[in-house]
Formats: sequence, C-alpha cells, structure tokens
Amino acid sequence: MLSSLTYCAQFGFARTEDKKSAIVYYSRTLNTHILAKYLQSITNSDLISLQIINPYPNDFDAMSKIAKEERDRNFKPKLVSIEFNPNDYDVIFLGTPVWAGGISSPIRTFLSMYDFNSKVIAPFCTQVKDNIEGCIKDIQFLTPNAKILKGIDIQATFEKDDKFLKDKNKNYLANNTNYLTSKDKQEINLWLNKI
Ligand SMILES: Cc1cc2nc3c(=O)[nH]c(=O)nc-3n(C[C@H](O)[C@H](O)[C@H](O)COP(=O)(O)O)c2cc1C
Repeated sequence: MLSSLTYCAQFGFARTEDKKSAIVYYSRTLNTHILAKYLQSITNSDLISLQIINPYPNDFDAMSKIAKEERDRNFKPKLVSIEFNPNDYDVIFLGTPVWAGGISSPIRTFLSMYDFNSKVIAPFCTQVKDNIEGCIKDIQFLTPNAKILKGIDIQATFEKDDKFLKDKNKNYLANNTNYLTSKDKQEINLWLNKI
C-alpha cells in the first residue's frame, strides 16, 4: 500500500490523463468553489457541488456557533441528492472550507453516505488561519480505509463572508477563478504534480 502511494506521489497520479477523477466540494461563500473550478480547469474532473437542503445563515457569528454545535454533535445536515458513485473514479478530490478547525458539516454527511474503502481521496480546503491537518484527521476518521493523498490549503480571499455576500456579484465570482492569486495557482499546480 505504502509503495503504491509513493509511486503515485512521484508521478502525479491524480492528474494522469487516463485517470477518471471527480471534484466533490462544499462551499458556503464561494472560496472553495473558486478553488474547485480552478482544479477542474486543470484536471478535467467531473465537478460535484454539495448543497444543503436547509440553508445556513449569512451571518458569520451565527454560522460559527452552528458549525461548532454541529461538530460537537457530529451532526450531518441533509444534502440535495447527487449522482455519484465512488467506484466510477480513480481519484476523488474533496474540497471543504475549514470549519472549527476541521471539515464542514456537509462533507461529514457526504463521507458517511458512501463506502470509500480503498478509494483515493485528494483533500483541498480554504481557510483563514488553519492548515489542512484538522480536515485530514476528520477525513481519516470518517474513511479509515481510504487512501488519503497529501492535501492542499489555500487562504480564503473573502474573510468576512456575510459582508462579501452582500457586496459582490455572486454570479460573476462563481465563474471567475481569477480570484486566486498567481502564487495560489502555482502552489496548486505543484501540488497536482506531486500527488
Ligand atoms: C462557520 C465557520 C467556521 C470557520 N472556522 C475556521 C477555522 O476554524 N479555521 C480557519 O482557518 N478558518 C475558519 N473559517 C473560515 C473559512 O474556512 C474560510 O472563510 C473559507 O474559505 C470559507 O469557504 P467557502 O467560501 O467556500 O465557504 C470558518 C468560517 C466559517 C463560516
């Protein structure tokens, strides 16, 4: 197992042309979405955006409280149904905002819905201060038999998300990956070549 992962790491396994990949992600305020779109533009993966049935509030403080409570209760919010079968993919890129030091609640739901035994997961996240380690721990806990590749974290462009939602043109942002800095893009490209 270890040797096959080492092999992957050396040759950019996740990006190899004959591999079929999906990008599955949750994004409440588009930072992770922008990263997911950029990844898709490079990897040609299927893009699957997770949506929750009962929307979260826009207010940051209210949301922070909810996220913490959901984490403490191991709560899994209901998701709008998606067409996804882990067996269809060689690599699953899994994207989340960092919430309370770990994955966001909708990702918890997603990981509990399928069998990821021996599936390859490449995690990515956006954050304002924490690295991806907390998310990796959560993913490992929920998918103990998956092969988890090295992840990447990118600092969010929009820190105060409620203000951002009010001030910006959401549709424009949703389709524009230029909100990533060239340093971010370089880092993402390097990561994709390594995993
Ligand atoms: C409820 C909540 C909890 C958060 N917790 C953390 C955290 O623990 N560490 C951190 O670095 N960023 C934290 N953030 C910031 C988000 O990770 C960051 O803004 C992220 O880019 C949001 O992604 P999105 O725009 O795709 O939803 C938190 C944001 C929210 C809304």
